[in-house]
Amino acid sequence: MRPRRALLYVPGTSMKMMSKAAGLDLDTVCLDLEDAVALGQKEEARALAAQALAELDFGRTERCVRINEAGSDLARADLAAILPLHPDAIILPKVDSPEALLWADEMLLEAESSHGWTIGGIALIALIETAMGVVRLADIAGATPRLQALAFGAEDLMADVGGKRTPSNREVAYPRSAVALTAAAFGLQALDQVFVAYKDLDGFRAEAEEAAILGYQGKQVIHPAQAQVAQEAFTPSEEEIAHARRVLEAMREAQARGKGVFALEGRMVDGPMIKAAQRILARAGIL
Ligand code: COA
Ligand code: MG
Repeated sequence: MRPRRALLYVPGTSMKMMSKAAGLDLDTVCLDLEDAVALGQKEEARALAAQALAELDFGRTERCVRINEAGSDLARADLAAILPLHPDAIILPKVDSPEALLWADEMLLEAESSHGWTIGGIALIALIETAMGVVRLADIAGATPRLQALAFGAEDLMADVGGKRTPSNREVAYPRSAVALTAAAFGLQALDQVFVAYKDLDGFRAEAEEAAILGYQGKQVIHPAQAQVAQEAFTPSEEEIAHARRVLEAMREAQARGKGVFALEGRMVDGPMIKAAQRILARAGIL
């Protein structure tokens, strides 16, 4: 699966921002037709997003579109406008049932069949940002093989729950972890919540590092400066790579001596630490 360390949202109403985003060499850019677009501007945003997909050079960047809620007339019109341009992925907002994904799956399948494109070539990403979405996580994660990632939406979730957003993130500790855990259980990527204070890059970096600790592989972002920081934060550091190499080297020596568990730098190492080290090297493209 392609890395999505940073997924940058760009309002579908702004050709200037879409054009800028296309040239940033990011993992994923997501043209937004949902929350960043006012009801009166949906039609214009659709047309502009389609134009951006048709005309802009995104280079290696994944071309993704966030459509409106599955099953709605808005979402139907969104797909009718953008599917002919073969986006790489579709993000579905407020997913609260497997049926929402199956609805989208069918629309994508129809487009792929009618254009003669690779079946399953357009990926789906599900935003988990409602109380029901969290409660039904496992049903949603297993809905379709087209699903590649679960993205967590803290703002919408807390609006739905009726709680409050705080800088501590304590109100989302459970659902944010549950999304990472469920994604891992189903072999999907987990993409962390948006950090709305886009001028506070230190706060953003801290939240991205915390997400990596929880098992997230990337972060949804709203500003180019955040995107750069996210791509760094979700890339293994030199220290992490060096440590992983030492673990695997020590493992080979221990195995040669017939030992499954051994000590390295004052800490016990066995199966899980070896698996973690292998994961780091794989993410760094070394293994
Ligand atoms: N994508 C592409 N370019 C962006 C961008 C984005 N998401 N956010 C900002 N930029 C551009 C600006 O256009 C500006 O470009 P310029 O220097 O060529 O003029 C540059 O980056 C610096 O922007 P800045 O002045 O710091 O921010 P702003 O005040 O223009 O915009 C926001 C702030 C939050 C309104 C804007 O970042 C935004 O719209 N983000 C996306 C919101 C969104 O899609 N939300 C829905 C999903 S949660
Ligand atoms: Mg939203």
